[in-house]
Amino acid sequence: MAQLHGKVALVTGASQGIGYQIALRLARLGAFVCVHAHRSKESLMQLVATIEAEGGKAAPIFADLSDAKGPYEIQAQFDKIVADAVGETRLDILVNNAGVLKREPIESVTSEQFDLTLMVNLKAPFFLTQCMLPRLRDHGRIINISSMGTRMAFPEMAVYAPAKAGLEALTRLLAAHLGPRGITVNTVAPGLTETAMSPIDEHTAARAISSIALGRIGAPGDIADVVAFLATDEAKWITAQRIEVSGGQKI
Ligand SMILES: NC(=O)c1ccc[n+]([C@@H]2O[C@H](COP(=O)([O-])OP(=O)(O)OC[C@H]3O[C@@H](n4cnc5c(N)ncnc54)[C@H](OP(=O)(O)O)[C@@H]3O)[C@@H](O)[C@H]2O)c1
Repeated sequence: MAQLHGKVALVTGASQGIGYQIALRLARLGAFVCVHAHRSKESLMQLVATIEAEGGKAAPIFADLSDAKGPYEIQAQFDKIVADAVGETRLDILVNNAGVLKREPIESVTSEQFDLTLMVNLKAPFFLTQCMLPRLRDHGRIINISSMGTRMAFPEMAVYAPAKAGLEALTRLLAAHLGPRGITVNTVAPGLTETAMSPIDEHTAARAISSIALGRIGAPGDIADVVAFLATDEAKWITAQRIEVSGGQKI
């Protein structure tokens, strides 16, 4: 199962949750995975150790994506790591996964919350993609992690949903722009998935499960499986798509 052997991947927000599982799967398929986080040094290093213990290859990158300098810091660390490890600065798979969600209806959103949410969920993936484009090889992959919150109206996602909708628009635009190079660009939109971002108590579980066709709450691995598929050669004819991975939530 070394479908990604020789490929270089970069996964943002890989210290926990969905990003952690995406990085694990890409490494298991043979990619050299640069894994990024902001604060969670210990869990990111543990991810690198786990990948290496399984015989894979990974390296950590740290940067704050709520800071406009964040994407450039990722690029600088990536360039050094990959030049040392691979002998040239190149990228095959970019997964823009890092995200933040402050649950607030429009009445209580502050200007600071608005800026932070737009910055991490939209501006950072935009400029990270811009930074990495010269490194992204033909037939590469860009996979942006959005949310089912762009399809359904959840009033407490007053800033988050518009930010993710912007990311989805960027996905389609880039798919058209980069198609001539064989680069595919897709959105994966998770439904409710049990992570630090969406802790599930008994009440949430009961309410949510009744709205999910497959009758359970998503696990990070459910999302990561689809992202890993999109990274493989078998998915080369899929581009500009928004794939909702939610077990059929609120259909
Ligand atoms: N969980 C859900 O129900 C759900 C549903 C729909 C969509 N999503 C989307 O799926 C993606 C992953 O979510 P998750 O649930 O796995 O979240 P999570 O467990 O909270 O993990 C978020 C990741 O993003 C990183 N991050 C947060 N703020 C950052 C910043 N300022 N700079 C750099 N990195 C930052 C975190 O790094 P540190 O740990 O170092 O801070 C962490 O690795 C997000 O884009 C989210 O919007 C999640």
